[in-house]
Amino acid sequence: MTETIRFLMCSPDHYDVDYVINPWMEGNIHKSSQEKARQQWQQLYHILKDRALVDLVPPEKGWPDMVFTANAGLVLEKIVVLSRFLHKERQGEEPYFKQWFEDNGFTVHELPKDLPFEGAGDALLDREGRWLWAGYGFRTELDSHPLIAKWLDIEVLSLRLIDERFYHLDTCFCPLSGGYLLYYPDAFDAYSNRLIELKIPEEKRIIVEEADAVNFACNAVNIGEVIVMNKISDDLQYKLASKGFEVVQTPLTEFLKAGGAAKCLTLRTTEPLIPDHHANVTIESRILQLEGHLLDAGIMNKALDVVVGNGGSFKVLNFTLGIERQSTSSAEVRVSAPSHEVMEEIMVQLIDLGAAARPQEICDVNTAVVAQDGVAPDDFYVSTIYPTEVRVNCEWVRVENQRMDAAIVVTESPEGKTAKCTLLRDLKAGDRVMVGVEGIRTIRQAESREQRNSTQEFTFMGAGVSSERRVELTVEQIAWEMRQIRDQGGKVVVTAGPVVIHTGGAQHLSRLIRDGYVHALLGGNAIAVHDMEQAIMGTSLGVDMQKGIPVRGGHRHHLKIINLIRRHGSIAKAVSAGVLTKGVMYECVKNNVPFSLAGSIRDDGPLPDTEMDLIKAQEEYSRLIQGADMILMLSSMLHSIGVGNMTPAGVKMVCVDINPAVVTKLSDRGSVESVGIVTDVGLFLSLLTQQLDKLTRPLVETV
Ligand code: ARG
Repeated sequence: MTETIRFLMCSPDHYDVDYVINPWMEGNIHKSSQEKARQQWQQLYHILKDRALVDLVPPEKGWPDMVFTANAGLVLEKIVVLSRFLHKERQGEEPYFKQWFEDNGFTVHELPKDLPFEGAGDALLDREGRWLWAGYGFRTELDSHPLIAKWLDIEVLSLRLIDERFYHLDTCFCPLSGGYLLYYPDAFDAYSNRLIELKIPEEKRIIVEEADAVNFACNAVNIGEVIVMNKISDDLQYKLASKGFEVVQTPLTEFLKAGGAAKCLTLRTTEPLIPDHHANVTIESRILQLEGHLLDAGIMNKALDVVVGNGGSFKVLNFTLGIERQSTSSAEVRVSAPSHEVMEEIMVQLIDLGAAARPQEICDVNTAVVAQDGVAPDDFYVSTIYPTEVRVNCEWVRVENQRMDAAIVVTESPEGKTAKCTLLRDLKAGDRVMVGVEGIRTIRQAESREQRNSTQEFTFMGAGVSSERRVELTVEQIAWEMRQIRDQGGKVVVTAGPVVIHTGGAQHLSRLIRDGYVHALLGGNAIAVHDMEQAIMGTSLGVDMQKGIPVRGGHRHHLKIINLIRRHGSIAKAVSAGVLTKGVMYECVKNNVPFSLAGSIRDDGPLPDTEMDLIKAQEEYSRLIQGADMILMLSSMLHSIGVGNMTPAGVKMVCVDINPAVVTKLSDRGSVESVGIVTDVGLFLSLLTQQLDKLTRPLVETV
């Protein structure tokens, strides 16, 4: 018997499953046997009494979970951090536990209201006393960890729980003597697993399989070499024995019904303080500001979801609610994250939502110098489609050439300060590039409160008449905008794949070009080849476009066309020679609509006009989309994604594809301006030209 070790237990006189606050309790209300529970508890009590001292806190009627004394608080020496239960079903236990601690000479620390922490259920001391492992994610809030570190003067390592079956740290994690750790890795997020692996060498990690984990194998009481737990597999028993542990198994089925086992039923109240270990928390906090239609446009929800979803925690320091329908709100939020790495991940996403650190707090921009041409510093900030500003020498400077996936290069000279999106390959040694997340904000249009559903998706002939009608409505809207753009001298860019030709869309796209609705065409080798194949030979990839059936020997047609154009030297020359007399490419040449054909690995030929140097092709594309008001993306995932990557927010993108996955991928840029339409592209173009005809006919008549 080790006199120095003490446990606190609470007899199960009033124990029952009365409510559901964890997945184990579901379906088990009043299903546990009082008698059996008492026996199982007694057995555990005696096992412990043989090896340590056991104190008892009197059970209280109406608080059935009080048996789980692990949740009374967290003890170190004579200090206790009292639990603040998340669920009201258990909050009533707090005063009884507090009383017991006070009666037994402990200094009691209490967390602020609404900052839950569930004691030794969620905080486990390393058995060598080196640090405290603290769980969060379900019952305990991350923001409680710094307070615990301060009160107990100990290093706290935060671990995030992600499987609700393992809602308390002690259900899936058990530090053992000798520096061993018994745990179930899948209950933790990737960052936490990395932290565990960093702290505990591989030979000391004892991994529990799911089958044992769900039998609460990790919910064990460790006293020296002895481990007391519910029934476990022979495998695990053997594993533990091979590390020199003696496993004492005792059935605790009745308590499993409430989501607890051996460890939950006990609280070790003698945890000696190891000298020379001091408070240390890796938790980072930042104060951010948000402004806009925070409630109506759902920004506040999104922002807080980003924080929690990535393993952080928050405190809303103040919130000023816009009173009128059109007035904006503002908020100041303190965000905490378990590590710097997680904080940056959260910040990058919050910046996209328009959050920024208080400007007065950032003066010098956060930059690093490029050491090698074409290579950014590790921590470089990756740009997004949203208009962005960065702090250069205490001032916000608007970023030029906004696009996603670039680095931001800043300069400061007597002429002024600049910031510019620059592709990795264009970085030069000596450039100053924004790194980290400090001093960066995106300017989100205070989008009108009505427009909160950013992407609309329409399915043509997907489900009943209404969706068909919806495509028509969308096409009407697009036609209206295209007419406006044309009449105001704006710019519409089309990216198109060969499907446009295969589905009979060539005639309609040709019309659009001829009528001045298209101001640049982007595609690959194939659309041009099949368009000209159709114009010259009447087939598209060998299929007769009138009859819709393959033509004998038709598969060779496109090569004949490529060869023909190659003979003439370019598409334009074939047009002047009178060889090409209609179709999409013909109209481009005739109407001086610039086009760019970007090559790919699968191209036949290629056509002389196809740019096989992809860097040049990207530059061409990016030049042609400058100043675009609308981009019509017609059935080409490859070229459309390429274009999407270069396009800043604010440009209306219309994506048409028969495959919903493509439409979702392209229109899901989180910008209000994109519209996705799931339909046959030939049909879409036909509807569009019809609608444009309707819009222009009366005008034509009056001329
Ligand atoms: N029914 C209790 C709850 O959900 C079980 C607590 C188990 N305790 C523990 N330390 N894991 O709160």
